[in-house]
Amino acid sequence: MNTPSSLTLRRPDDWHVHLRDGAMLAAVIAATARDFSRAIVMPNLKPPVTTAALAAAYRERIRALVPSDCDFTPLMTCYLTDTVDPADLRAGHADGVFTAAKLYPAGATTNSEAGVTELARIARVLETMEAIGMPLLVHGEVVDGAVDVFDREAVFIERVLAPLRGRHPALKIVLEHVTTREGVAFVREAAGPVGATITPHHLLINRNAMFAGGIRPHMYCLPVAKREIHRLALREAACSGDPRFFLGTDSAPHLRSLKEHDCGCAGVFNAPSALACYAQVFAEERALDRLEAFASLNGPAFYGLPPNERRVTLECCEDFATPDLPVDGEAVRVFRPAGALRWRVT
Ligand code: NCD
Ligand code: ZN
Repeated sequence: MNTPSSLTLRRPDDWHVHLRDGAMLAAVIAATARDFSRAIVMPNLKPPVTTAALAAAYRERIRALVPSDCDFTPLMTCYLTDTVDPADLRAGHADGVFTAAKLYPAGATTNSEAGVTELARIARVLETMEAIGMPLLVHGEVVDGAVDVFDREAVFIERVLAPLRGRHPALKIVLEHVTTREGVAFVREAAGPVGATITPHHLLINRNAMFAGGIRPHMYCLPVAKREIHRLALREAACSGDPRFFLGTDSAPHLRSLKEHDCGCAGVFNAPSALACYAQVFAEERALDRLEAFASLNGPAFYGLPPNERRVTLECCEDFATPDLPVDGEAVRVFRPAGALRWRVT
């Protein structure tokens, strides 16, 4: 297929995004609301969003900041803790406040201190979710300090995810921001409802990007970028048309001062460039005809929601500029590939 110079598709949704709160939320919301119709909003605020009441209040704060010319629906998630109340989760889901719940192994990533220490502690919660068809969104990394950082996803699949799949065969599970070929293989072959989100940055960089000429804090996120073989497996999965793989940016803004730091935060902010980055990857893979499935069809099908009716158009350009986003007298760096970014949303 020749690469077309423009492309119109159903509007995508972002099935994994960090919108934060307060001044950061105010600064970043427009970028997501402009390009995506819906987004699964991560609950790792400080304090985390652990009840339906907290989620409803957070949803109001988001809605109040969506630009008036954007048609955008935030879909809320519950941050699972050892003590989360299954009745509140069930009621929140029935009321349409909670779309899904997020499992952070305690200590795995940014603001995950309150996460689950042992899956056995939330067995009743998982049974409830399985019964009501509420998806479990998983940060798939073990927190065992004895396991190499680059192996934590593969070990999580073996030690935690595969047994979990066996115990709850009907539970909808999303392996969020999959980064390894082991993760891709698990998702492809697993029994029952399993999906995975794939980020633009994990499709565009491998771990060398963190060390290109010096330490590159803006290329650091969790799960950390892996070797090239893994990036290639992710590109193959995203572009394959397999309905189990769908778009989730994991856009995770942190101030530059907190990234360029002695102990820099994990997270890549890509909301302004995400759609352009995905288009670039699919164009490079000669798979632009499959971008709509990945970006706009597979996610809604997994979540049991209708695809969006509105359309978005992407077009080729010389180089899409990605200036820092000002926030509260500081700035957030926007993710972009090493070379030119040759697509933009019109
Ligand atoms: C995320 C964040 O900053 O909230 N960071 C990241 O590197 N992806 C948390 C997460 O999704 O793991
Ligand atoms: Zn995330």
